Amino acid sequence: MSKYSVLVIGCGSIGERHLRCFLQTGRVRATACDANPALLQKMADTYQVPVAADWKTALAAKFDAVVICTPAHLHVPMAIETLAAGSHVLVEKPLSQSLDGVGELFRARDRAGRQVAVAYVLHVYAVLAAAREFLRRGEFGPVRSATVVSGQSFPSFRPAFAQTYYRDRRTGGGAIQDALTHSVNWMESVLGPADSVLCDCAHLALPHVEVEDTVHVSARHGAALVSYALNQFQAPNETTLQFNAEHGSVKIELHRQRWGTFATGASDWTWHPVPAGERDTPFIAQANAFLDQLEGQPSRLCSLEAAAQTLRFNLAALASAESGARVACASLHA
Ligand SMILES: NC(=O)c1ccc[n+]([C@@H]2O[C@H](COP(=O)([O-])OP(=O)(O)OC[C@H]3O[C@@H](n4cnc5c(N)ncnc54)[C@H](O)[C@@H]3O)[C@@H](O)[C@H]2O)c1
Repeated sequence: MSKYSVLVIGCGSIGERHLRCFLQTGRVRATACDANPALLQKMADTYQVPVAADWKTALAAKFDAVVICTPAHLHVPMAIETLAAGSHVLVEKPLSQSLDGVGELFRARDRAGRQVAVAYVLHVYAVLAAAREFLRRGEFGPVRSATVVSGQSFPSFRPAFAQTYYRDRRTGGGAIQDALTHSVNWMESVLGPADSVLCDCAHLALPHVEVEDTVHVSARHGAALVSYALNQFQAPNETTLQFNAEHGSVKIELHRQRWGTFATGASDWTWHPVPAGERDTPFIAQANAFLDQLEGQPSRLCSLEAAAQTLRFNLAALASAESGARVACASLHA
């Protein structure tokens, strides 16, 4: 089997992980691209891969696929040029920090006839996939309300966060666009797109930045009421999601890698543990899912359509926090 040629643009925190995890699949020949020469040298030394400093020049080599791992404001223009060069695209989340160019990106994809997937990695978490499958089967009836409660000490995981894109909303920073978006995108994959959001957020604790590190959202996903609460300073790294349906509830404790059911009339949760693997495990699964998609298998990743919807959620949440009013996601147009 011949290997796919893959260019990774942006080899910072997540780009290096993608480079390593795509190589781990054994299915690719990878090239690393970054504007930072010291980082490029590190990629060449660590992974023995060819490197390129200029992404536009690199695209001319006609890679089968390009993985875009730069900050959010660069995702859409880079994806459009990548498609024009004839390559498939896996682009990091969030799709963007504005709707500028998103319509053109859809047209570029359709013109090129290439695949575009967005790297909302929760789609390949085995524990989430198992719970979502149960919910989709509808044994408990329609979900009426749901909650997502999530937090971690961001500086413990990303000590240099204040020197990255995170410090500025215009580059995709802040809790709404950078962290909450993972949960929102996954909830939309279960409950359907959010119609409207009422959002409050604040900068409460993280040093050296002014963007919001705490966010609370009350959202409507169709008939379901969903409450999101996230902060980026609490000591425990925990995410709990709960779905309350007509005939029972489903809870997912991501930090314990288990999901459970509690049927109406039962006396306790029935838990289903799902082995998590290593930190790279979901990213290797994501790389394999993307390569499978290139081979014509049904997509298991976030589509461009779904990511554009989650982008509208992000922008509606920011607008709601600014105005204090409920904002309809559909009111935001490219
Ligand atoms: N899925 C996840 O779990 C996850 C985790 C972290 C980050 N992300 C997302 O990935 C993206 C990147 O985040 P990060 O933490 O890796 O950021 P980072 O700052 O660590 O890395 C970004 C890299 O892009 C490079 N770059 C910027 N402009 C460039 C250009 N024109 N040409 C070539 N290289 C360029 C920078 O030099 C830098 O090395 C963001 O959108 C972020 O939200 C996703």
